[in-house]
Amino acid sequence: MHWPKGVDGLSYGGDYNPEQWPEETWDDDVMLMREAGVNLVSVGVFSWARLEPRPGEYDFGWLDTVLGKLHAGGIGVNLATPTASPPPWFTLAHPDALNTRPDGVRQVHGSRDTYDVCAPAYREASRAIAATLAERYADHPALAMWHVHNEYGSATYSAHAEQAFRLWLQAKYETIDALNDAWWGSFWSQHYSEWEQILAPRATQYLANPAHELDFKRFTSDAMLEHYKEQRDLLRAANPDVPITTNFVFGQWVPVDPWKWASEVDLVAFDSYPSAPDERAEQQSALHADLSRSWAGGGDWLLMEQAAASLHSHDGAIAKAPGRMARHSMIHISRGSKGAMFFQWRAGRGGAEQWHSALLPHAGKHTRMFREVAEFGNTLPGIAHTVADPVETDVAILWSPDSWWATAGKHLPAPVDYLENVAQIHRVLRDRGVIADFVAPEGDLSKYTTVIAPTTYVLSQAGAENLRWFTAGGGRLVASYLTGAVDENCQVWLDGYLGGMTDLFGIRVTEHLPQPAGEPRALWNFGAAERFCELVELRGAQCVTQYASGDVIENQPAVTVNPFGEGEAWYVSCKLVDEAWDRLFEELKLSGPGRPGLDVVDRGPWRFIINHTEKEEQVGNVIVPAGSWAVDKKR
Ligand code: GLA
Repeated sequence: MHWPKGVDGLSYGGDYNPEQWPEETWDDDVMLMREAGVNLVSVGVFSWARLEPRPGEYDFGWLDTVLGKLHAGGIGVNLATPTASPPPWFTLAHPDALNTRPDGVRQVHGSRDTYDVCAPAYREASRAIAATLAERYADHPALAMWHVHNEYGSATYSAHAEQAFRLWLQAKYETIDALNDAWWGSFWSQHYSEWEQILAPRATQYLANPAHELDFKRFTSDAMLEHYKEQRDLLRAANPDVPITTNFVFGQWVPVDPWKWASEVDLVAFDSYPSAPDERAEQQSALHADLSRSWAGGGDWLLMEQAAASLHSHDGAIAKAPGRMARHSMIHISRGSKGAMFFQWRAGRGGAEQWHSALLPHAGKHTRMFREVAEFGNTLPGIAHTVADPVETDVAILWSPDSWWATAGKHLPAPVDYLENVAQIHRVLRDRGVIADFVAPEGDLSKYTTVIAPTTYVLSQAGAENLRWFTAGGGRLVASYLTGAVDENCQVWLDGYLGGMTDLFGIRVTEHLPQPAGEPRALWNFGAAERFCELVELRGAQCVTQYASGDVIENQPAVTVNPFGEGEAWYVSCKLVDEAWDRLFEELKLSGPGRPGLDVVDRGPWRFIINHTEKEEQVGNVIVPAGSWAVDKKR
């Protein structure tokens, strides 16, 4: 059960907030949705205060009407539980259920996501509203899927969280001594003698304990997952035939481990908001899509949200050129999404997101945007048959939430941008036409011939054994600097780092030698390194290239390769520039049918071609106009 019930083909639509609009607009909405080819909408995402205006007093009239109209119009409903925005009456009655920031400030209502997943009152209220919705709508003919909550990610450092954290730690470590050992508690007098002394890692005077911080992230992911599962189980009990999902959001601040969560949802759903102002937005979209597919175990997933008209650059929105919305949607669909959904259907008239783009702009249907939306939506049924076969690849990149979280620490030898390092590998591979999956360090590597571990800073014993097993069995492992620098407790792997696998790589890393920013270090015949370099001692590995300059590192190995079992382990001891990775992938003969600006994805007999360039491109016999896309039989 992976697919919105009763929705055929690819899903197309978005968040629909009829409660923000007078009833007169609802028929118009359904009519325009039909015109635009919309077949699925997410309803009720933030509507708790309208569903339950006073404690225990419900108003379902508007929702009944809306669901009836949507059903009559043939549009499926992805019905949300509204728990991402508790109503004002709730937070006033239960101020302890508001979330607390790391600096100890308890937030107030007035925005959204002001909840504390560890607060008993919030948990109880969440179960109650989910159960009430389940009772009323579980068998509604419009119901295609349940959308639990929205974008889990709002962490809390409250007293409730602290209490739950201690229980989580007790279950994990059993004894306080084990925790002290794992956290290296003798440092700075952090040795605990009672569980009650352990706090949430709130604001403290200087650097915090990295193991404490990492465990708190893991705990928060588990606490949010419990909140999700409580609702899911209630919804499932009411009707086991309706799939249940929640939409993942992406960011280092998000304390959600998607590898752990993915098996708890019926359909992995992802919200993709590229932030790059330029062509890297396409790169980010492809990265999001490949991550989502991988979390879904290679199967179908769903792009639950994207913005129709603009990129969410850090400097504010940037308009998408005509056709770019369709190309972004096709990036996702070609890479496994069973549709393209958006935030939001109708642009808001008021409220904090009144300037967020939508499928139906403020100016209504007679707009360039709506024409584009409708044109694309009406194209999708014609290609629904092309997404039956899986996206296949034998190349994987490791994705380690622990490493992402732990490299946020300010105490590293030099700043590390984990996401950029992962994105860089993905970007260079994509430019070479290679589709990559992602896999957890402890995940199943058996179907891959090449596995790349970009700065996989946190490497557990199990992860290290997994990589060893993969390489011994004939795999080609490529790891970059700081991989296996620390174990799962953030304790340094002694005697050469590398997760203890100095024999696998045939080297020891003996020093970290960060270089001044803006002073690249050339490698012989191999591009250059920026910022981060390591000193490597050969212990059987072959040197592929050396640093051409730099104190201590000059003429020392920069890239190495070591045969191990049936396979080989490559090590890149620095942060390479893109051209150097490209050079390395050339050496490894990694290439595919795509090229820069041109996504080519093969699925069974079908070939998806997305041309992001400003000129016509030809792939095989297929000609794709500038800024356009095509799906054709592979020839
Ligand atoms: C998130 C949320 C939506 C909306 C969009 C705006 O993805 O889920 O409710 O706020 O961001 O981009």
